[in-house]
Amino acid sequence: MALSEALQYIDTHFQRSVAGLQELVRIPSISTGADAGADGQVARAAQFLADQLAAAGLAARLVTAPGGGNPLVLAHPAAPRAAVPTVVVYGHYDVQGVEAVGWRCDPFAGLELEGCLWARGASDDKGQLWAHVKAAEALLAVDGVLPVNLVFLLEGEEECGSGALSRFLQAGGLADLAPVACTVVSDTGMYAPGRPSLTLGLRGIVFTTVTVQGPPQDLHSGLYGGLVANPNHLLVRALASLFDDSGRIQIPGFYDDVRLPSPRERAGYQALEQEAPDLLAGLGLTPTPGEPEFSLLERRWLRPSLDIHALRGGSARTVVPAQAAATLSCRLVPDQQPARVQAQLESFLRAQFPATTRVEFGPAHAAAPYTLDLDDPVVAPALRALQLGFGREPVLVREGGSIPISGTLAANTGAPVLFVGFGQLTDNWHGPNEHFSLADLRGGMRTAAALYYELAAAIGRC
Ligand code: BES
Ligand code: ZN
Repeated sequence: MALSEALQYIDTHFQRSVAGLQELVRIPSISTGADAGADGQVARAAQFLADQLAAAGLAARLVTAPGGGNPLVLAHPAAPRAAVPTVVVYGHYDVQGVEAVGWRCDPFAGLELEGCLWARGASDDKGQLWAHVKAAEALLAVDGVLPVNLVFLLEGEEECGSGALSRFLQAGGLADLAPVACTVVSDTGMYAPGRPSLTLGLRGIVFTTVTVQGPPQDLHSGLYGGLVANPNHLLVRALASLFDDSGRIQIPGFYDDVRLPSPRERAGYQALEQEAPDLLAGLGLTPTPGEPEFSLLERRWLRPSLDIHALRGGSARTVVPAQAAATLSCRLVPDQQPARVQAQLESFLRAQFPATTRVEFGPAHAAAPYTLDLDDPVVAPALRALQLGFGREPVLVREGGSIPISGTLAANTGAPVLFVGFGQLTDNWHGPNEHFSLADLRGGMRTAAALYYELAAAIGRC
């Protein structure tokens, strides 16, 4: 049978798959911060993937979205088959920037050590999308065709809001595909090491910067201190009013639309509690008081949150600064609406400043939370594929992070989005020493290959 031959192929050619991923992670395709887009590296990563998909036997090309931006990689069978469903694989080849300290090795060397590949993007998301590229290669090598019309849709702006992909989708970029049965996304984590996981929900996000204008230029505080409004003072007071002493968010109406999952789904999550990995203790951390009626797991998966990511204002000189700014985000859960929360946040903060203060917001990006129904027909095939891929019973989870394009993908394809992640929550996404376990790469490739078969069979039956 083609699947068992493909699984065999995956093992026989595993070292080559690792070497290919090493090449990919060595390309610093950073899409955020000061290093964004440096030296055409983002385009290089896109071209590398297009070449690999073409070598695997797919028709692959780079696409520039309306209005430009980092290229999309689009690949599909040269001759799609009418008799099989169309499945989109979404992933992102862009990565976060790197901080100078804390790395045990060069973040773009792609070192293989202790059973893992160490690099920025190794797990988020290059290693995970690579599992699909290599699964498709294996199936094409042993069988010449894929069990579904597999469409790769890889973007280079996930870490900065998915602007290009969302313009591409809104402009009908996928319109000439056969109806899409499902979009598969591997850009999440497993509940615990060795425990394959299907993620039924991700939180949404409202991400913005608030900028407060002070005097027209930095002024000596010996002359002006205490006499004119200091934007740093105004900003920290406003930010402090976002929370009460227990950490509850004080924006009026913020919690109004929050809806907990069904009792059945929530009971499933509660049953996982005893197996919950302690993400805090390993780092020597203790939890904040938070909402006492919710466990830490529920706070991460089911409750909204607000974090201040960066504070900028003045310098370490004795001045009243000209400007202060804070970058912050809210994580959203069903049924919170990003536009509504953004408006609530902005008007709450604005009201904390004297009327004469110039306060500006933006740039902002916002994305709705995404959930997949527990009873969706794609859940059972995905669970079977995860079981086969990792050799252990999978669990249904949610996660606290965000993949901003999820809702747009679902709306534009009219099909569910299925999150089957192969990373670990301890892979250090966005931090120093990001890594991806080669065992998870293998499990991911096996899962991906099995999933295409399972989806073909299940969707064929519907
Ligand atoms: N891979 C993550 C999404 C993720 C994070 C899933 C944690 C599950 C748990 C993705 O690459 C990511 O980092 N997304 C950003 C989006 C933001 C920059 C708009 C996030 O969640 O912060
Ligand atoms: Zn990320």
